[in-house]
Amino acid sequence: MTHRIAVVPGDGIGREVVPAALEVVAAVGVDLDTTTFDLGGERYLRDGVVLPDDVLAELGTFDAILLGAVGTPDVPPGVIERGLLLKMRFVLDQYINQRPFRSPDGSVDFVVIRENTEGTYAGEGGFLRKDTPAEIATQGSVNTRYGVERCIRYAFDLAASRARRHLTLVHKTNVLTFSGDLWQRTFDAVATEYPNVETAYNHVDAACIHLVANPERYDVIVTDNLFGDILTDLAGAVTGGIGLAASGCLNPDRTTASMFEPVHGSAPDIAGRGEANPVAAILSAAMMLEFLGEVDAANRIRSACAAPDELTGSTSAIGDAVVARL
Ligand code: NAD
Ligand code: IPM
Ligand code: MN
Repeated sequence: MTHRIAVVPGDGIGREVVPAALEVVAAVGVDLDTTTFDLGGERYLRDGVVLPDDVLAELGTFDAILLGAVGTPDVPPGVIERGLLLKMRFVLDQYINQRPFRSPDGSVDFVVIRENTEGTYAGEGGFLRKDTPAEIATQGSVNTRYGVERCIRYAFDLAASRARRHLTLVHKTNVLTFSGDLWQRTFDAVATEYPNVETAYNHVDAACIHLVANPERYDVIVTDNLFGDILTDLAGAVTGGIGLAASGCLNPDRTTASMFEPVHGSAPDIAGRGEANPVAAILSAAMMLEFLGEVDAANRIRSACAAPDELTGSTSAIGDAVVARL
């Protein structure tokens, strides 16, 4: 079966790691019908295009989207991140950001379920009296019962399907007494439907300690958009490096396309040198294949990415080594 995939290499190392991921998918024997979309900061600098509505609608018709990374230092912050990446996540209702982490020795194995359409990312707020000495900027956090509950339900379902059946809510309920209270009450209410899942709660600051000091305590973590963003860079750093961290922006209801992308960004500091580790993109492609029902191929790619310490050298050398292992 051929899968129709929209490929968005994006900017910086996104353009370097995506070809490696596509080579690995070809080597595992899964047939992809790919259409490449030239989008990102580099495109914007050329002709001012960020993400036209008709292109976004077209992206939603694919079986999945594979994205490298977007964002360039020459474009003001937010133009591409909000106008392209977050717009895709929001409009395509990819409400789950699933980010799995496994240490090379297997002692650490947890998944972060990050709410992907709300919170401080929703874009609520603005300026008053801009560019005056009395300027005010607000940036609110939007938390709907609907959005929080569907995310928490997904996390409970995932935890119930795993061997340890353990789910930790991470928030900051001691300070964010409105949004935190909604998250905690929703979590407690949904928990009554999952008596076989053991639950825990950590404040986000303490979760940072635990992720560094004893990450093996975690099985599944569910958290809001911003906490999930920060925790997953930290989780990547403590489980082998950000160059290994994969993610999926999922529309679990499959009403439109889900998007698979590394946790990392375009890494302007190393872009163009062929030094980026492509394993995060390769493992994101494996998540995509699993989502498309190609479970065996996904597992074979994951096995080929095991022992990442032995996968060294340039981007293409690592890609070739994974292909050789397959
Ligand atoms: P970054 O993740 O791009 O880089 C952070 C650090 O990690 C850098 O030192 C980089 O060299 C290193 N790194 C990242 N990926 C690596 C890899 N595969 N192999 C080796 N080293 C790697 O974060 P940043 O510098 O804060 O952001 C750069 C740009 O990327 C910004 O415009 C940001 O908005 C954007 N960004 C995009 C995405 C995305 O498209 N999904 C994600 C994160 C950041
Ligand atoms: C990520 C990135 C994005 C986010 C940015 C680029 C909008 O950091 O995917 O983790 O904050 O979600
Ligand atoms: Mn991030």
